[in-house]
Amino acid sequence: MSVRARKAVIPAAGLGTRFLPATKAIPKELLPIVDTPALEYIVAEAAANAVTDVLIVTARGKDAIAEHFDAKPALEEALEAKGSTALLERIRRSSTLARMHYVRQPKAAGLGDAVAHAEGFAGNEPFVVMLGDDLIDERDELLGTMIDVQERLGGIVLGLMQVPGEDISKYGCVAVAPTDEDGIVAISDLVEKPALADAPSDLAIIGRYILPTEIFDALRTTQPGAGGEIQLTDAMRTLALAGVPVHGVVFTGRRYDTGDRLDYLKAVVQLACERPDLGPPFVEWLTQFVQQRA
Ligand code: UTP
Repeated sequence: MSVRARKAVIPAAGLGTRFLPATKAIPKELLPIVDTPALEYIVAEAAANAVTDVLIVTARGKDAIAEHFDAKPALEEALEAKGSTALLERIRRSSTLARMHYVRQPKAAGLGDAVAHAEGFAGNEPFVVMLGDDLIDERDELLGTMIDVQERLGGIVLGLMQVPGEDISKYGCVAVAPTDEDGIVAISDLVEKPALADAPSDLAIIGRYILPTEIFDALRTTQPGAGGEIQLTDAMRTLALAGVPVHGVVFTGRRYDTGDRLDYLKAVVQLACERPDLGPPFVEWLTQFVQQRA
């Protein structure tokens, strides 16, 4: 049995080049999905799974992230005076979800390097890593199951999803064997962004990880890999080959990819359609719009 993970690390120090020029001054992680920054969905998912402390790995020019998760007394007073209670609750939410911590990554040297900056925060407990590119629908279960599996089996636990062959080269990919538990696989090897011909399966690592503290030693010896960046996948592979157990939880629920512009547009439309306040008129308009374009 391992200690139950209750801290989460959210790397948010990347350059966001795929969304330029929007991300020249605004962090990619704060781009709105309908009316809520992507990062708030992620912190809310952590909080819903009993994570109490969240470390955001940030960078120069990204101070707006800490602003978003801070209280805003003047704005709160103004909304209170106007009697805008619903809006008041919405803006207070971000500052009440979890205890927020920040660390700076001096240079965007890769996801592995970003996670390496969480060593002091993690202490000697396993911890969650969450990427802002993957939004998991709050009605579907993933992170809680992953935390349970890590508590029981220790080692590394990854969120996995089946993706079409032509997409596998965008992800970390895993070689797996079944376990006697439904939806949980044992992982024997990992490879970052493989060509389709080299992919060991159609299971991609989506942006949820539970990592043991041994990852920090592995990261220290990881050389730059794909794209010249320190890859988290390479450090996890070092641990896997050294005998650390690695398991995957195969997710079959609703996931919204916000990683590039096309996926981002799809995520905004999907989530807008789901919203009780905006969904019905938006779907009506969208249906007519698509019919006119056909
Ligand atoms: P991405 O590769 O999606 O983000 O990394 P990016 O590098 O900002 O995007 P592009 O490719 O230039 O458009 C996944 C997450 O990891 C963080 C990013 O901020 C993003 O949330 N990240 C990436 C870091 O914190 N540090 C890094 O060095 C790289």
